Amino acid sequence: MPAENIVEVHRLSKSVGQGAHQLSILTGVELVVKPAQSIALVGESGSGKSTLLAILAGLDDGSEGEVLLLGQPLHRLNEEQRAALRARHVGFVFQSFMLVPTLNALENVQLPALLRGESDKTSRQQATELLEQLGLGQRLRHLPAQLSGGEQQRVALARAFSGRPDLLFADEPTGNLDRQTGERIADLLFSLNRHQATTLILVTHDEQLAARCERRLRLRDGRLWEES
Ligand SMILES: Nc1ncnc2c1ncn2[C@@H]1O[C@H](COP(=O)(O)OP(=O)(O)O)[C@@H](O)[C@H]1O
Ligand SMILES: [Mg+2]
Repeated sequence: MPAENIVEVHRLSKSVGQGAHQLSILTGVELVVKPAQSIALVGESGSGKSTLLAILAGLDDGSEGEVLLLGQPLHRLNEEQRAALRARHVGFVFQSFMLVPTLNALENVQLPALLRGESDKTSRQQATELLEQLGLGQRLRHLPAQLSGGEQQRVALARAFSGRPDLLFADEPTGNLDRQTGERIADLLFSLNRHQATTLILVTHDEQLAARCERRLRLRDGRLWEES
């Protein structure tokens, strides 16, 4: 049974540091995301976009408030339960890519599908197709260190797609890419959104990408605003 709301956030605040050095990053954030929505999260550098994404994915904790991911209250889950929830339902493209350095491109992309219990043969075939779609058909056996930044970014995207997530978080997915490659990735994101009803939450400075999203949310002074 899919949850009615993919993400639900109530009165979320996040501050770091102590006493006079305390820094408030997020204040009173409220958010409800329905299945298959696409959301652009925008805001100036340092406005808390990456912090919010990490909290929504259960990779970081808020200081106050409540976050439900696929109906599950994250504060009541331990690390293992959160990891299991992510493995089943969530894809994540980090700004820093986070590829496994000892695995080649194909193996990196296969990993989430294998973790979901798909066979080596099926997952390898899917991973190959995804990498070919992203123009990396000639890079299957390359290690991350042998790939350019833009190529690593595409491998990270292919990996996020390979688990067939219900919800995909991406932090600047087109940030380091030329226009044409950026558009190819946007096409892939929205085809996932249309055909597999994948919910998209994208941090982006790319106006074209943001314009294709159904909703636009802006972080300013720690608060989250919906733009019309
Ligand atoms: N663990 C931390 N300790 C101290 N400051 C942090 C920590 N994490 C983030 N920050 C600060 O919080 C603010 C928001 O960071 P971030 O979420 O990375 O912003 P964005 O992704 O919008 O650029 C920044 O000023 C950053 O320096
Ligand atoms: Mg960031």
